[in-house]
Amino acid sequence: MNEETNKKEISAIKGTKDILPQEARYWQVAEATARQIFELYGYRELRAPVIEPTELFEKGTGASSDIVTKEMYTFVDKGGRSITLRPEYTPSVVRAIIEHRLDLQPQPLRFYYIGPMFRYDKPQKGRYRQFHQIDIEVFGEKDPAVDAEIVEMAHHLLKKLGVEKVETLVNSVGCKKCRPAYGQALRQAARAVKDRLCPDCQRKAEINPLRIFDCKVETCREAAATFPLITEYLCEECRTHFEQFRSYLDFYGINYRIDPTLVRGLDYYTKTAFEIVTEHLGAQNAICGGGRYDDMVKEFGGPDLCGIGFAMGVERLLSVARITTPKESFVYIAYLGEEAKKKSLATAREWRQKGVECLVEFKDRNMKAHFSRANKIGADWVLIIGENELARGLFQLKDMNNSQQYEGTNEELLKIVKQKGKQDAST
Ligand code: HAM
Repeated sequence: MNEETNKKEISAIKGTKDILPQEARYWQVAEATARQIFELYGYRELRAPVIEPTELFEKGTGASSDIVTKEMYTFVDKGGRSITLRPEYTPSVVRAIIEHRLDLQPQPLRFYYIGPMFRYDKPQKGRYRQFHQIDIEVFGEKDPAVDAEIVEMAHHLLKKLGVEKVETLVNSVGCKKCRPAYGQALRQAARAVKDRLCPDCQRKAEINPLRIFDCKVETCREAAATFPLITEYLCEECRTHFEQFRSYLDFYGINYRIDPTLVRGLDYYTKTAFEIVTEHLGAQNAICGGGRYDDMVKEFGGPDLCGIGFAMGVERLLSVARITTPKESFVYIAYLGEEAKKKSLATAREWRQKGVECLVEFKDRNMKAHFSRANKIGADWVLIIGENELARGLFQLKDMNNSQQYEGTNEELLKIVKQKGKQDAST
Protein backbone atom coordinates (compact mmCIF):
# COMPACT_ATOMS: atom_id res chain seq x y z
CA MET A 1 0.00 0.00 0.00
CA ASN A 2 1.49 3.37 -0.95
CA GLU A 3 1.37 6.39 1.33
CA GLU A 4 -1.47 8.07 -0.62
CA THR A 5 -3.83 5.10 -0.29
CA ASN A 6 -2.79 4.81 3.30
CA LYS A 7 -3.97 8.34 3.99
CA LYS A 8 -7.29 7.97 2.11
CA GLU A 9 -10.32 8.45 4.29
CA ILE A 10 -12.23 5.26 5.03
CA SER A 11 -15.98 5.70 4.72
CA ALA A 12 -18.90 3.53 5.73
CA ILE A 13 -19.77 0.90 3.14
CA LYS A 14 -22.32 1.95 0.50
CA GLY A 15 -25.86 1.30 1.68
CA THR A 16 -24.89 1.32 5.37
CA LYS A 17 -24.93 4.25 7.74
CA ASP A 18 -23.84 5.42 11.15
CA ILE A 19 -26.57 6.25 13.60
CA LEU A 20 -25.15 9.17 15.53
CA PRO A 21 -26.12 9.89 19.16
CA GLN A 22 -28.84 12.44 18.45
CA GLU A 23 -30.56 10.14 15.96
CA ALA A 24 -29.96 7.11 18.18
CA ARG A 25 -32.30 8.66 20.76
CA TYR A 26 -35.18 8.14 18.29
CA TRP A 27 -34.11 4.56 17.68
CA GLN A 28 -34.08 3.93 21.41
CA VAL A 29 -37.64 5.23 21.79
CA ALA A 30 -38.90 3.19 18.81
CA GLU A 31 -37.19 0.04 20.07
CA ALA A 32 -38.33 0.49 23.67
CA THR A 33 -41.92 1.13 22.52
CA ALA A 34 -41.87 -1.98 20.34
CA ARG A 35 -40.55 -4.13 23.20
CA GLN A 36 -43.11 -2.73 25.59
CA ILE A 37 -46.03 -3.34 23.24
CA PHE A 38 -44.94 -6.83 22.19
CA GLU A 39 -44.52 -7.89 25.81
CA LEU A 40 -48.10 -6.71 26.44
CA TYR A 41 -49.26 -9.28 23.90
CA GLY A 42 -47.16 -12.06 25.46
CA TYR A 43 -44.15 -11.97 23.12
CA ARG A 44 -40.66 -12.71 24.39
CA GLU A 45 -37.34 -11.81 22.84
CA LEU A 46 -35.40 -14.44 20.91
CA ARG A 47 -31.93 -13.38 19.76
CA ALA A 48 -30.37 -15.40 16.95
CA PRO A 49 -26.92 -14.89 15.36
CA VAL A 50 -26.30 -12.43 12.55
CA ILE A 51 -24.51 -15.09 10.51
CA GLU A 52 -26.21 -18.33 9.52
CA PRO A 53 -25.51 -21.24 7.16
CA THR A 54 -26.37 -20.08 3.61
CA GLU A 55 -28.67 -23.04 3.06
CA LEU A 56 -30.98 -21.76 5.82
CA PHE A 57 -32.11 -18.92 3.54
CA GLU A 58 -31.87 -20.89 0.31
CA LYS A 59 -34.35 -23.31 1.80
CA GLY A 60 -36.34 -20.92 4.00
CA THR A 61 -36.57 -17.61 2.13
CA GLY A 62 -36.72 -19.60 -1.09
CA ALA A 63 -34.54 -20.40 -4.09
CA SER A 64 -36.67 -18.34 -6.49
CA SER A 65 -36.86 -15.19 -4.32
CA ASP A 66 -34.91 -12.07 -5.33
CA ILE A 67 -33.29 -12.13 -1.90
CA VAL A 68 -31.66 -15.50 -2.47
CA THR A 69 -30.94 -15.16 -6.19
CA LYS A 70 -29.47 -11.66 -6.06
CA GLU A 71 -29.22 -10.06 -2.67
CA MET A 72 -27.42 -12.21 -0.15
CA TYR A 73 -24.13 -11.31 1.49
CA THR A 74 -22.54 -14.73 1.27
CA PHE A 75 -18.93 -15.70 1.90
CA VAL A 76 -16.87 -18.78 2.57
CA ASP A 77 -15.31 -18.74 6.01
CA LYS A 78 -11.86 -20.02 6.93
CA GLY A 79 -13.33 -23.44 7.62
CA GLY A 80 -14.72 -23.64 4.07
CA ARG A 81 -18.37 -23.18 5.15
CA SER A 82 -20.76 -21.02 3.16
CA ILE A 83 -22.01 -18.32 5.54
CA THR A 84 -24.64 -15.64 4.93
CA LEU A 85 -25.34 -12.40 6.78
CA ARG A 86 -29.05 -12.84 7.45
CA PRO A 87 -31.24 -11.02 4.92
CA GLU A 88 -34.33 -11.59 7.10
CA TYR A 89 -35.12 -13.13 10.44
CA THR A 90 -37.93 -15.68 9.97
CA PRO A 91 -35.78 -18.70 8.95
CA SER A 92 -33.47 -18.09 11.94
CA VAL A 93 -36.40 -18.36 14.36
CA VAL A 94 -37.55 -21.56 12.69
CA ARG A 95 -34.04 -23.00 12.98
CA ALA A 96 -33.85 -22.02 16.67
CA ILE A 97 -37.22 -23.64 17.41
CA ILE A 98 -36.13 -26.93 15.91
CA GLU A 99 -32.63 -26.78 17.40
CA HIS A 100 -33.86 -26.11 20.94
CA ARG A 101 -37.10 -28.12 20.70
CA LEU A 102 -39.06 -25.02 21.63
CA ASP A 103 -42.08 -26.72 20.09
CA LEU A 104 -42.27 -28.81 23.27
CA GLN A 105 -43.26 -25.67 25.18
CA PRO A 106 -46.93 -24.69 25.50
CA GLN A 107 -48.20 -23.14 22.27
CA PRO A 108 -48.68 -20.71 20.73
CA LEU A 109 -45.07 -19.54 20.93
CA ARG A 110 -44.60 -15.80 20.52
CA PHE A 111 -41.21 -14.21 19.78
CA TYR A 112 -39.85 -10.84 18.83
CA TYR A 113 -36.49 -9.47 17.83
CA ILE A 114 -34.96 -6.15 16.78
CA GLY A 115 -31.73 -6.07 14.83
CA PRO A 116 -29.81 -5.57 11.59
CA MET A 117 -30.47 -7.44 8.33
CA PHE A 118 -28.39 -7.38 5.15
CA ARG A 119 -29.44 -7.32 1.51
CA TYR A 120 -27.25 -6.49 -1.47
CA ASP A 121 -29.76 -4.41 -3.40
CA LYS A 122 -29.22 -1.09 -5.17
CA PRO A 123 -29.28 1.47 -2.34
CA GLN A 124 -31.82 4.28 -2.61
CA LYS A 125 -34.06 6.26 -0.28
CA GLY A 126 -35.63 3.74 2.11
CA ARG A 127 -33.52 0.87 0.82
CA TYR A 128 -30.24 0.04 2.47
CA ARG A 129 -27.78 -2.82 2.46
CA GLN A 130 -27.66 -2.94 6.21
CA PHE A 131 -31.10 -2.09 7.53
CA HIS A 132 -32.95 -2.95 10.70
CA GLN A 133 -36.09 -4.88 11.35
CA ILE A 134 -38.50 -5.16 14.22
CA ASP A 135 -39.71 -8.72 13.78
CA ILE A 136 -42.38 -10.83 15.48
CA GLU A 137 -43.31 -14.47 14.92
CA VAL A 138 -46.07 -16.73 16.32
CA PHE A 139 -46.00 -20.52 16.10
CA GLY A 140 -48.67 -23.15 16.67
CA GLU A 141 -51.80 -21.05 16.19
CA LYS A 142 -54.03 -21.84 13.22
CA ASP A 143 -56.91 -19.57 14.18
CA PRO A 144 -57.25 -16.64 11.73
CA ALA A 145 -57.93 -14.46 14.80
CA VAL A 146 -54.17 -14.45 15.40
CA ASP A 147 -53.56 -13.21 11.84
CA ALA A 148 -55.76 -10.23 12.67
CA GLU A 149 -54.23 -9.83 16.13
CA ILE A 150 -50.73 -9.34 14.72
CA VAL A 151 -52.02 -6.75 12.25
CA GLU A 152 -53.76 -5.02 15.14
CA MET A 153 -50.51 -5.16 17.14
CA ALA A 154 -48.60 -3.59 14.22
CA HIS A 155 -51.18 -0.80 14.11
CA HIS A 156 -50.91 -0.36 17.87
CA LEU A 157 -47.16 0.19 17.54
CA LEU A 158 -47.50 2.53 14.55
CA LYS A 159 -50.10 4.60 16.37
CA LYS A 160 -47.93 4.82 19.47
CA LEU A 161 -45.06 6.08 17.30
CA GLY A 162 -47.24 8.70 15.65
CA VAL A 163 -47.29 7.10 12.21
CA GLU A 164 -50.31 8.30 10.28
CA LYS A 165 -51.87 7.79 6.88
CA VAL A 166 -51.06 4.14 6.45
CA GLU A 167 -52.87 1.65 4.28
CA THR A 168 -53.16 -2.05 5.04
CA LEU A 169 -53.10 -4.38 2.05
CA VAL A 170 -54.20 -7.98 2.50
CA ASN A 171 -54.33 -11.08 0.36
CA SER A 172 -54.34 -14.85 0.56
CA VAL A 173 -51.63 -16.62 -1.43
CA GLY A 174 -53.26 -20.04 -1.02
CA CYS A 175 -51.62 -23.22 0.13
CA LYS A 176 -49.94 -26.33 -1.21
CA LYS A 177 -53.32 -27.68 -2.26
CA CYS A 178 -54.60 -24.75 -4.27
CA ARG A 179 -51.47 -22.98 -5.45
CA PRO A 180 -50.30 -25.55 -8.04
CA ALA A 181 -53.41 -25.03 -10.16
CA TYR A 182 -52.97 -21.28 -9.88
CA GLY A 183 -49.26 -21.59 -10.70
CA GLN A 184 -50.21 -23.53 -13.81
CA ALA A 185 -52.71 -20.87 -14.94
CA LEU A 186 -50.19 -18.15 -14.23
CA ARG A 187 -47.43 -19.92 -16.14
CA GLN A 188 -49.68 -20.24 -19.16
CA ALA A 189 -50.61 -16.57 -18.98
CA ALA A 190 -46.95 -15.57 -18.59
CA ARG A 191 -45.87 -17.73 -21.54
CA ALA A 192 -48.46 -16.03 -23.73
CA VAL A 193 -46.86 -12.62 -23.10
CA LYS A 194 -43.29 -13.81 -22.63
CA ASP A 195 -41.75 -11.47 -25.21
CA ARG A 196 -43.13 -8.47 -23.30
CA LEU A 197 -41.47 -9.54 -20.07
CA CYS A 198 -38.01 -8.47 -18.91
CA PRO A 199 -35.32 -11.21 -19.04
CA ASP A 200 -35.61 -11.72 -15.30
CA CYS A 201 -39.38 -12.27 -15.50
CA GLN A 202 -38.96 -14.59 -18.49
CA ARG A 203 -36.90 -16.77 -16.18
CA LYS A 204 -39.42 -16.33 -13.34
CA ALA A 205 -42.24 -17.38 -15.71
CA GLU A 206 -40.77 -20.89 -15.71
CA ILE A 207 -39.46 -21.19 -12.13
CA ASN A 208 -42.06 -19.32 -10.07
CA PRO A 209 -44.44 -17.09 -12.07
CA LEU A 210 -45.83 -15.64 -8.82
CA ARG A 211 -42.63 -13.61 -8.56
CA ILE A 212 -43.53 -11.63 -11.73
CA PHE A 213 -45.95 -9.65 -9.54
CA ASP A 214 -42.93 -8.27 -7.61
CA CYS A 215 -41.29 -6.81 -10.75
CA LYS A 216 -41.20 -3.02 -11.01
CA VAL A 217 -40.54 -2.88 -14.80
CA GLU A 218 -43.49 -1.12 -16.43
CA THR A 219 -44.09 -3.65 -19.25
CA CYS A 220 -44.02 -6.51 -16.73
CA ARG A 221 -46.49 -4.69 -14.52
CA GLU A 222 -48.79 -4.13 -17.48
CA ALA A 223 -48.55 -7.80 -18.39
CA ALA A 224 -49.11 -8.90 -14.77
CA ALA A 225 -52.29 -6.80 -14.65
CA THR A 226 -53.84 -9.21 -17.16
CA PHE A 227 -52.87 -12.38 -15.26
CA PRO A 228 -55.44 -14.54 -13.45
CA LEU A 229 -55.80 -13.79 -9.75
CA ILE A 230 -55.17 -16.16 -6.86
CA THR A 231 -58.54 -15.21 -5.34
CA GLU A 232 -60.27 -17.26 -8.04
CA TYR A 233 -58.22 -20.35 -7.23
CA LEU A 234 -58.32 -20.56 -3.42
CA CYS A 235 -59.43 -23.89 -1.95
CA GLU A 236 -62.28 -24.01 0.55
CA GLU A 237 -59.94 -23.95 3.56
CA CYS A 238 -57.95 -20.96 2.34
CA ARG A 239 -61.07 -19.09 1.29
CA THR A 240 -62.67 -19.56 4.72
CA HIS A 241 -59.45 -18.60 6.48
CA PHE A 242 -59.21 -15.42 4.43
CA GLU A 243 -62.85 -14.51 5.13
CA GLN A 244 -62.43 -15.06 8.85
CA PHE A 245 -59.18 -13.09 8.92
CA ARG A 246 -60.99 -10.17 7.33
CA SER A 247 -63.93 -10.45 9.68
CA TYR A 248 -61.55 -10.16 12.65
CA LEU A 249 -59.94 -7.11 11.03
CA ASP A 250 -63.44 -5.64 10.76
CA PHE A 251 -63.99 -6.52 14.41
CA TYR A 252 -60.87 -4.49 15.33
CA GLY A 253 -62.05 -1.66 13.09
CA ILE A 254 -58.94 -1.88 10.91
CA ASN A 255 -59.42 -0.59 7.40
CA TYR A 256 -57.81 -2.64 4.69
CA ARG A 257 -57.76 -3.11 0.96
CA ILE A 258 -57.69 -6.52 -0.68
CA ASP A 259 -54.83 -6.57 -3.17
CA PRO A 260 -54.94 -9.87 -5.09
CA THR A 261 -51.51 -9.15 -6.60
CA LEU A 262 -49.84 -8.88 -3.19
CA VAL A 263 -47.73 -12.03 -3.23
CA ARG A 264 -44.74 -10.81 -1.11
CA GLY A 265 -41.18 -11.34 -2.24
CA LEU A 266 -40.43 -14.42 -0.15
CA ASP A 267 -41.35 -17.96 -1.17
CA TYR A 268 -42.67 -19.37 2.07
CA TYR A 269 -46.04 -17.72 2.51
CA THR A 270 -49.27 -19.67 2.74
CA LYS A 271 -52.76 -18.20 3.14
CA THR A 272 -52.50 -14.72 4.75
CA ALA A 273 -50.15 -12.10 3.30
CA PHE A 274 -50.24 -8.43 4.24
CA GLU A 275 -48.34 -5.18 4.02
CA ILE A 276 -48.73 -1.83 5.67
CA VAL A 277 -47.75 0.95 3.31
CA THR A 278 -47.54 4.72 3.58
CA GLU A 279 -47.90 7.38 0.97
CA HIS A 280 -44.87 9.26 2.31
CA LEU A 281 -42.12 6.87 1.29
CA GLY A 282 -42.21 6.93 -2.52
CA ALA A 283 -41.21 3.69 -4.21
CA GLN A 284 -40.12 1.99 -0.99
CA ASN A 285 -43.49 2.49 0.64
CA ALA A 286 -43.83 -0.70 2.73
CA ILE A 287 -43.17 -0.12 6.42
CA CYS A 288 -44.32 -3.58 7.43
CA GLY A 289 -44.76 -6.89 5.67
CA GLY A 290 -45.75 -10.32 6.85
CA GLY A 291 -47.91 -13.36 6.57
CA ARG A 292 -48.48 -16.98 7.38
CA TYR A 293 -46.00 -19.74 6.63
CA ASP A 294 -47.60 -22.97 7.74
CA ASP A 295 -45.15 -25.35 6.05
CA MET A 296 -41.71 -23.95 6.88
CA VAL A 297 -41.06 -25.69 10.21
CA LYS A 298 -42.03 -29.05 8.75
CA GLU A 299 -39.99 -28.49 5.60
CA PHE A 300 -36.94 -27.93 7.81
CA GLY A 301 -37.49 -31.37 9.34
CA GLY A 302 -39.29 -30.05 12.42
CA PRO A 303 -42.78 -30.82 13.70
CA ASP A 304 -45.95 -29.76 11.90
CA LEU A 305 -46.06 -26.30 13.42
CA CYS A 306 -47.74 -23.43 11.61
CA GLY A 307 -46.23 -19.93 11.77
CA ILE A 308 -47.13 -16.32 11.11
CA GLY A 309 -45.29 -13.04 11.62
CA PHE A 310 -44.27 -9.68 10.29
CA ALA A 311 -41.26 -7.41 10.08
CA MET A 312 -41.11 -3.62 10.11
CA GLY A 313 -38.22 -1.71 8.61
CA VAL A 314 -36.92 0.58 11.35
CA GLU A 315 -35.36 3.14 8.95
CA ARG A 316 -38.64 3.49 7.05
CA LEU A 317 -40.61 3.53 10.28
CA LEU A 318 -38.52 6.36 11.73
CA SER A 319 -38.75 8.40 8.57
CA VAL A 320 -42.53 8.68 9.04
CA ALA A 321 -42.79 8.45 12.84
CA ARG A 322 -43.46 11.40 15.12
CA ILE A 323 -41.47 10.66 18.21
CA THR A 324 -40.69 12.91 21.13
CA THR A 325 -37.48 11.96 22.84
CA PRO A 326 -37.27 12.23 26.63
CA LYS A 327 -35.65 15.39 27.92
CA GLU A 328 -32.10 14.75 28.98
CA SER A 329 -31.12 16.53 32.15
CA PHE A 330 -27.59 16.55 33.50
CA VAL A 331 -25.44 18.24 36.11
CA TYR A 332 -22.14 19.84 35.25
CA ILE A 333 -19.81 19.99 38.24
CA ALA A 334 -17.61 23.07 38.29
CA TYR A 335 -14.66 22.89 40.65
CA LEU A 336 -11.64 25.00 41.52
CA GLY A 337 -8.42 23.42 42.74
CA GLU A 338 -7.17 19.88 43.30
CA GLU A 339 -9.04 19.21 46.52
CA ALA A 340 -12.34 20.37 45.00
CA LYS A 341 -11.65 18.21 41.97
CA LYS A 342 -11.48 15.11 44.17
CA LYS A 343 -14.66 16.20 45.97
CA SER A 344 -16.32 16.61 42.54
CA LEU A 345 -15.33 13.11 41.52
CA ALA A 346 -16.71 11.67 44.76
CA THR A 347 -19.95 13.69 44.47
CA ALA A 348 -20.44 12.68 40.83
CA ARG A 349 -19.93 9.06 41.79
CA GLU A 350 -22.51 9.29 44.56
CA TRP A 351 -25.10 11.20 42.49
CA ARG A 352 -24.72 8.83 39.52
CA GLN A 353 -25.33 5.91 41.85
CA LYS A 354 -28.52 7.67 42.84
CA GLY A 355 -29.58 8.01 39.20
CA VAL A 356 -28.44 11.54 38.32
CA GLU A 357 -26.36 12.14 35.19
CA CYS A 358 -23.19 14.10 36.10
CA LEU A 359 -20.27 15.37 34.14
CA VAL A 360 -16.87 16.27 35.57
CA GLU A 361 -14.36 17.59 33.09
CA PHE A 362 -10.66 17.39 33.67
CA LYS A 363 -9.46 20.61 32.13
CA ASP A 364 -8.35 23.27 34.62
CA ARG A 365 -10.80 26.17 34.24
CA ASN A 366 -11.79 29.27 36.13
CA MET A 367 -15.46 29.63 37.13
CA LYS A 368 -16.37 31.78 34.14
CA ALA A 369 -14.92 29.21 31.76
CA HIS A 370 -16.75 26.41 33.60
CA PHE A 371 -20.06 28.21 33.14
CA SER A 372 -19.53 28.95 29.49
CA ARG A 373 -18.62 25.30 28.92
CA ALA A 374 -21.70 24.11 30.84
CA ASN A 375 -23.83 26.41 28.74
CA LYS A 376 -22.31 25.22 25.51
CA ILE A 377 -22.96 21.56 26.19
CA GLY A 378 -26.49 22.20 27.44
CA ALA A 379 -26.16 21.36 31.14
CA ASP A 380 -29.35 21.88 33.11
CA TRP A 381 -27.54 22.35 36.38
CA VAL A 382 -24.15 23.52 37.52
CA LEU A 383 -22.96 22.33 40.90
CA ILE A 384 -20.19 24.56 42.20
CA ILE A 385 -17.50 23.10 44.39
CA GLY A 386 -14.79 25.57 45.31
CA GLU A 387 -12.51 25.95 48.32
CA ASN A 388 -15.08 28.05 50.09
CA GLU A 389 -17.70 25.36 49.60
CA LEU A 390 -15.32 22.68 50.81
CA ALA A 391 -14.58 24.58 53.98
CA ARG A 392 -18.26 25.15 54.82
CA GLY A 393 -19.68 21.85 53.58
CA LEU A 394 -22.28 23.82 51.62
CA PHE A 395 -22.41 23.89 47.83
CA GLN A 396 -24.01 26.16 45.28
CA LEU A 397 -26.34 24.78 42.63
CA LYS A 398 -27.47 26.82 39.67
CA ASP A 399 -30.51 25.98 37.58
CA MET A 400 -29.29 26.89 34.11
CA ASN A 401 -32.82 27.11 32.73
CA ASN A 402 -33.94 29.98 34.99
CA SER A 403 -30.70 31.13 36.67
CA GLN A 404 -32.10 30.34 40.10
CA GLN A 405 -29.34 29.57 42.60
CA TYR A 406 -29.55 27.29 45.63
CA GLU A 407 -27.20 26.75 48.54
CA GLY A 408 -27.25 23.55 50.55
CA THR A 409 -25.60 20.34 51.63
CA ASN A 410 -24.90 17.56 49.19
CA GLU A 411 -28.15 15.79 50.17
CA GLU A 412 -30.30 18.90 49.97
CA LEU A 413 -29.10 19.80 46.49
CA LEU A 414 -29.41 16.24 45.24
CA LYS A 415 -33.02 16.31 46.38
CA ILE A 416 -33.68 19.51 44.40
CA VAL A 417 -32.21 18.03 41.22
CA LYS A 418 -34.19 14.80 41.58
CA GLN A 419 -37.42 16.62 42.39
CA LYS A 420 -37.11 18.83 39.32
CA GLY A 421 -36.28 15.78 37.19
CA LYS A 422 -39.52 14.14 38.35
CA GLN A 423 -41.55 17.27 37.60
CA ASP A 424 -40.07 17.50 34.09
CA ALA A 425 -40.82 13.84 33.43
CA SER A 426 -44.46 14.29 34.40
CA THR A 427 -45.06 17.35 32.21
P1 HAM B 1 -39.86 -8.14 3.92
O1 HAM B 1 -41.10 -7.62 3.27
O2 HAM B 1 -38.78 -8.63 3.05
O3 HAM B 1 -40.33 -9.28 4.91
O4 HAM B 1 -39.26 -7.02 4.87
C1 HAM B 1 -40.04 -6.42 5.89
C2 HAM B 1 -39.79 -4.92 5.95
O5 HAM B 1 -38.40 -4.65 6.10
C3 HAM B 1 -40.18 -4.16 4.70
O6 HAM B 1 -41.56 -3.85 4.70
C4 HAM B 1 -39.34 -2.89 4.83
O7 HAM B 1 -39.96 -1.97 5.71
C5 HAM B 1 -38.07 -3.42 5.49
N1 HAM B 1 -37.01 -3.63 4.48
C6 HAM B 1 -36.83 -4.69 3.67
N2 HAM B 1 -35.73 -4.54 2.90
C7 HAM B 1 -35.21 -3.33 3.22
C8 HAM B 1 -34.06 -2.59 2.78
N3 HAM B 1 -33.22 -3.06 1.86
N4 HAM B 1 -33.83 -1.38 3.34
C9 HAM B 1 -34.66 -0.88 4.28
N5 HAM B 1 -35.75 -1.54 4.75
C10 HAM B 1 -36.03 -2.75 4.24
C11 HAM B 1 -39.49 -10.01 5.68
O8 HAM B 1 -38.33 -9.75 5.88
C12 HAM B 1 -40.17 -11.16 6.40
N6 HAM B 1 -39.16 -11.90 7.17
C13 HAM B 1 -41.30 -10.67 7.28
C14 HAM B 1 -42.00 -11.78 8.00
C15 HAM B 1 -41.83 -12.13 9.30
N7 HAM B 1 -42.86 -12.63 7.45
C16 HAM B 1 -43.24 -13.50 8.38
N8 HAM B 1 -42.61 -13.23 9.49
